[in-house]
Amino acid sequence: PKLIVVNRSGEEQAVEGDVGLSVMEVIRDNGFDELLALCGGCCSCATCHVYVDPAFAGKLPEIGEDENDLLDSSDHRNETSRLSCQLTLNEDLDGLRVTIAPED
Ligand code: FES
Repeated sequence: PKLIVVNRSGEEQAVEGDVGLSVMEVIRDNGFDELLALCGGCCSCATCHVYVDPAFAGKLPEIGEDENDLLDSSDHRNETSRLSCQLTLNEDLDGLRVTIAPED
């Protein structure tokens, strides 16, 4: 599936990821080093915070309790906020647009 990543400067880049990878892994593997993902995807750091295109809201997994708590600790949370390590790529998410949230 294709992913459109918008970096903190507002530049967009389309990238490809394999089904089963997390959105965080795909962003990181494509060289976006501003997405720190410090905990490596175990849902304990919140440095993989992204804003997700609202058009895909219904296709995303439910927000988990840990994810929700971590997002609450961010000053930049909005209604489209997710932790990208908690979003697994599948064909339904083809064309998903994610924006890397500002650093906390
Ligand atoms: Fe740490 Fe997502 S990489 S919470």
